[in-house]
Amino acid sequence: MSLNLAIVSGKGGTGKSTVSCGLALSLARMNKRVILIDLDAGLRCLDMFFGIEENIVFDLFDSINSGDFENALYYPHGYNKNICVVPAPPKDKTITKEQFFVFYEKCKKLFDAVILDLPAGLDFSILEDIKDLKYICVSNSDPVSVRDASFVAETLSEKNINKPLLIINKFYSELIRNKTYKNIDDIIDLSGIKLLGIIPFSTELMLFPISHKLNKRTNAYKALNRIIRRLGGESVLLPKPQKI
Ligand SMILES: Nc1ncnc2c1ncn2[C@@H]1O[C@H](COP(=O)(O)OP(=O)(O)O)[C@@H](O)[C@H]1O
Ligand SMILES: [Mg+2]
Repeated sequence: MSLNLAIVSGKGGTGKSTVSCGLALSLARMNKRVILIDLDAGLRCLDMFFGIEENIVFDLFDSINSGDFENALYYPHGYNKNICVVPAPPKDKTITKEQFFVFYEKCKKLFDAVILDLPAGLDFSILEDIKDLKYICVSNSDPVSVRDASFVAETLSEKNINKPLLIINKFYSELIRNKTYKNIDDIIDLSGIKLLGIIPFSTELMLFPISHKLNKRTNAYKALNRIIRRLGGESVLLPKPQKI
């Protein structure tokens, strides 16, 4: 059975696309085949994250409407075909939830993991027919993104969708130690979401769209790896905040 993730957030810029790529990298290094689907119509970015923007001819809309499923599946160099990227369509090319359901089901058969990188906000309508997704809400530690994460959880629960899990991204322990931001327990309480993991603020991760690499020894990579192991059912302890 594939691992199927929808990466969401209330507030924009919390790091959904970065986290989507990071989780894909970690899975790919475990020799899992991952398809990353960019659903941010009109604002695609995963092609740039993997340095393949010059190669893009077709997008998700074309793949769905041409009858040639493979035409928008791009394999960035250097990942041994373990990472596949599907670019988001432009804003004026609409995909229905029924069409997306069919596309998604095909992906599940061909890949070990399907990662959907969504736009910010509370519109999950394209995913309405899909029942087997794990929703992961990416928040930062600031009060606005934490409150917006709680709105995501509320919206998903109104739609009877499984509860999301929380990733706190761009974590900077100093701002918690000096009490600028709430502590981790308060962030979890305020968001109302169960914690899946914490990813530090990381220059290496910030530069991924330029370097297209993430060293295994970085704290960010280790944090992403812990998250994948937890998703696989392992109980992996959180390091002390200053070690994250
Ligand atoms: N852990 C991190 N550490 C440092 N910068 C990050 C981290 N995660 C994301 N960023 C940066 O934050 C910005 C927004 O990230 P992005 O993934 O595009 O967010 P979203 O998809 O939620 O809009 C980008 O400049 C990205 O490089
Ligand atoms: Mg994004």
